[in-house]
Amino acid sequence: MRQHVNPLSSFYQLERQLPAIAELFPDPALPLHLDIGCARGRFLLALAPQRQNHNHLGLEIRRPLVDLAEADRRKLELTNLYFLFCNANISLEDWLQQLPPNLLKLVTIQYPDPWFKKRHHKRRMVQPSLITALAKAMAPDAQLFLQSDVPEVIRLMLEAVDNCQAIDNTNVFYPCDGGSWMELNPFPYATEREAQVLEKNLPVYRRLYAKRAGSIIQTN
Ligand SMILES: C[S@@+](CC[C@H](N)C(=O)[O-])C[C@H]1O[C@@H](n2cnc3c(N)ncnc32)[C@H](O)[C@@H]1O
Repeated sequence: MRQHVNPLSSFYQLERQLPAIAELFPDPALPLHLDIGCARGRFLLALAPQRQNHNHLGLEIRRPLVDLAEADRRKLELTNLYFLFCNANISLEDWLQQLPPNLLKLVTIQYPDPWFKKRHHKRRMVQPSLITALAKAMAPDAQLFLQSDVPEVIRLMLEAVDNCQAIDNTNVFYPCDGGSWMELNPFPYATEREAQVLEKNLPVYRRLYAKRAGSIIQTN
């Protein structure tokens, strides 16, 4: 299994049309949780049976991981969970625009690849354009949960979130945790990366944001 793929290579720059929400879930009207960069999907595979009042969608750029996660999902007969292969920076925005309003209630982005070398920084997934696309689609009061063990990566994620502005120049997102790091994960299951980080006793930086009700974001 490849550790990384280059999201900027021509294959991953092709836009794929993601299936409409009604094709993914038997009850597409349930509140939606999106986990972006879900890897092998173990976090969602554990969470979905416990949160049956939500649909959960995992997006991942490494197709073999999506195939494995989907095989597990089918084995567990979970119908409120689905995994899709895509480059979230290329294929997500159009799909978000098709979503019914008020459906997207939770977005999690956990331990995105740090791409440490300077020449690789542009491969990083959390870009201002991704946060803006999410902000437009998220329901009022929807939550955005971010975590990383890499200070530079979490700093850039928070910068993108804090710089996301509504048309009246107010911040779209506000921190639910009062602007300090959350000591504990609000979810009962660790992601694959989080389990490794906790085992090694590395620091974890977590923030939970909510979308300010009434935020209107500039559309192009
Ligand atoms: C360090 S892993 C963390 C995985 C998981 N969230 C966790 O915490 O264990 C980051 C994941 O994001 C995926 N990824 C990177 N860029 C992506 C992109 N543009 N679109 C979708 N997934 C991406 C990677 O393939 C990788 O599986």
